[in-house]
Amino acid sequence: MSNLEFPPYIKSERVKHWIAEAVALCKPDAVHFCDGSEEEYNALCDQLVEAGTFIRLNPKLRPNSFLARSDPSDVARVEDRTFICSINKEDAGPTNNWVNPKEMHATLQSLFDGCMRGRTMYVVPFSMGPLGSPISYIGIEITDSAYVVVNMRIMTRMGKAVYDVLGEDGDFVPCMHSVGMPLEPGQKDVPWPCNPTTKYIVHFPEERSIWSYGSGYGGNALLGKKCLALRIASVIGRDEGWLAEHMLILGVEDPKGQKTYVAAAFPSACGKTNFAMLIPPKPFQEEGWKVTTVGDDIAWIKPGPDGRLYAINPEAGYFGVAPGTSYSTNPNAMETIKANTIFTNVALTPEGDVWWEGMDGPPPARAIDWQGNEWTPDCGRKAAHPNARFTAPASQNPAIDPEWENPKGVPIKAFIFGGRRATVVPLVYQSFNWSFGVYLGATMGSEMTAAAFGQIGEVRRDPFAMLPFIGYHMASYFNHWLDMGRRVVDPPRIFSVNWFRKDKDGNYLWPGYGENMRVLKWIVDRANGRGRGTESPLGYVPHYEDLDWRGLNFSKEQFQELMAIDRELWLKEILSHEELFIKLYERMPKEFLAMRELLISNLWRSPEHWDVGSSE
Ligand code: GTP
Ligand code: SPV
Ligand code: MN
Repeated sequence: MSNLEFPPYIKSERVKHWIAEAVALCKPDAVHFCDGSEEEYNALCDQLVEAGTFIRLNPKLRPNSFLARSDPSDVARVEDRTFICSINKEDAGPTNNWVNPKEMHATLQSLFDGCMRGRTMYVVPFSMGPLGSPISYIGIEITDSAYVVVNMRIMTRMGKAVYDVLGEDGDFVPCMHSVGMPLEPGQKDVPWPCNPTTKYIVHFPEERSIWSYGSGYGGNALLGKKCLALRIASVIGRDEGWLAEHMLILGVEDPKGQKTYVAAAFPSACGKTNFAMLIPPKPFQEEGWKVTTVGDDIAWIKPGPDGRLYAINPEAGYFGVAPGTSYSTNPNAMETIKANTIFTNVALTPEGDVWWEGMDGPPPARAIDWQGNEWTPDCGRKAAHPNARFTAPASQNPAIDPEWENPKGVPIKAFIFGGRRATVVPLVYQSFNWSFGVYLGATMGSEMTAAAFGQIGEVRRDPFAMLPFIGYHMASYFNHWLDMGRRVVDPPRIFSVNWFRKDKDGNYLWPGYGENMRVLKWIVDRANGRGRGTESPLGYVPHYEDLDWRGLNFSKEQFQELMAIDRELWLKEILSHEELFIKLYERMPKEFLAMRELLISNLWRSPEHWDVGSSE
C-alpha cells in the first residue's frame, strides 16, 4: 500500500489517523472503505462465492442467501482467549482473564504487524442502536474478512452515513479485527482463513477499544455484538448509570390491547431468540394475545425521564442458533430466514437448500454436512454443527414490534432469568423483591452449551447470563444492579424460569416454545399487580389453577413435578453459591449473605418436597 486516499465523507481527523496507523501496522494489499450499499453487499457476496467461502443457495428456495462453512476449529466463542485489560487487575475481577494492558498492547502490536499481507483491509463504520440517536454508540471495525463485513451489514446499522453522525470530532469505539493469516506472495487462500493456534479477543475498557485476532466466527469477530454492545457497553453503563445486558426484549399485548414489555436473560443457546419470537397457543391467539419482538440477544436499559426503566435493542439483525429451529418450534424465525440470510455451519441439501437437526419433516436422504462431507441420516454424525447459526435482518421478522427502533426504548415491567437446568429449578417463580431478584440473577446456574468452547452439559454459575460478557468486576456489577433498583421508580418485578427440567428418563417435563406463553401470561399478570402468587421457600409461585391451560393437556401431577422444590437439592444448590461468594468476596454486596441465610432458613422450615399443591 503506497498512497492511502480517504473518501471525502470521512471528516474526522481522529478516524483518519487511526486508519492510517492500522494500515501501517497490518500492511494490507488494499483498503476498502465500506459504504454499506446493497451493491457493495452483493459484490462482496459474489466475491465470497468466488473464493469458496460462500455457497449460493438455490434462489428459488432461499433467495439471496448463502452458506458458509467455517474451519472446524473456529465454530464458537473462545472464552479462555477473551481478555478484559483494565488498568487495574482488580477492576476486571476474578471471572475475567486479565493481562496488563501495556503488555497486551505489545503482544497485539507484534501479532498485527503485517497480519493483513496479501489481503484487503475493510473499514466498516457501524452504529449500535438507531443511526444518530442519542443512545447509540458508533464503532468502526477494521477487518480483513469479507464474511465479517457482510454479517456486520445485517447485524448493525452499517454504512457511510455513520461518518455524518461522527462529523469532525464525534466519538467512536475503534475495533481492530484480523483473521490472523497473512498470505505470502503466491500463497493460495483458504475458504475460511483463521489462525488455528493463536486467538485473542481483547478489550481495553478505559480506552474503549477492541482488538480481535485469529478467529472469523460470530461473537469473536462481529465486534459490535458481544465485544462492544456488552463488554465495553457494560463498563460505560456502570459509569453512566445504565445497564448493558445479555437479554431479549419482547412485548405482550393482552386482549384489551394493553402492552407489557419484559426483558429476559438466558445464557447462550438457552432460548432467547425462541422466547423473543414466541407465538401464543391457538386459544390465546383467538382471544387476542400477541407477542412481538424488540430484540433477541442484547438490551441496553436506561432510566427514562419518568424514572422507569426503558430498553432498546442495539442490534439490527439476529445471529441465531439454527439447530432446533423449525416451523413447529419457531415459525417466526423460519419466516425471518426465508431470504437474504447467511447460514454458517449448517448442512446443504441436494436441492441447494439448508438443513439442520430439528428442522420440520424427515431428514433429507442425503446431504453435505457442515464440514463439506457426504452425510446420510444413519451415518452417525451431525449434519449441522450444534452451534450452527443464521444471520438475518430483524426487519424480516413477521412479529417485529412497531417500537423496535424507537430510540426512547420500551418500558420494562419484568425481568426474567432462566437457565438450562435438568433438575432442581422449578418452571417459574417470582422473587420476593428487587434485592432477592438481583440475588436470583447473580446466582443463576446453567448447563454449558456449544455456543462456547468448554465442558458442554456441566452446570456453571452464569450470573445474569453475563459471565462471558461482563467488562468489569462481577461483584461490582451486582452492586450496580442493586443500585439501579434503588434509583428507579417502581422497579420491574423479577422472575426465574426453567424450560429445561427433565424426568428421570431424561425427557423434558415441559413442552416449551409457544407453550411458554402460559408462564409469560402469569408473569405479565403479576408484573401488572394482578394474578395470584403463593409464597414458596424461594419466592412466589403459581398454583396449577393460576396458569391458563386452554388447548394443552397438562395434568396437575405433571405441573407439580415441574414445580417441585426439593429441600435437599435446594440446600445443596444454595450452598454451591458459596463458591461464587468466596471468589468475589472482596466486592460482594453484603446483603447477599443475609439473603442467602434467609433462603436457607426458609428451606429448613419447609417440607422435604415442597409443591404448590400441598398448600391447598
Ligand atoms: P444465543 O444466540 O447463543 O445467545 O442463544 P439463545 O439464548 O437465543 O437461544 P435460542 O433461542 O437460539 O435456543 C437455543 C436452543 O434451545 C435451540 O436449539 C432451541 O431449539 C432450544 N430451545 C429454545 N427454547 C426452548 C424451549 O422452550 N424448550 C426447549 N426444550 N428447548 C428450547
Ligand atoms: C452467544 O453465544 O451468546 C451468541 C452468539 O449470541 S455469539 O455472537 O457468538 O456471541
Ligand atoms: Mn447471545
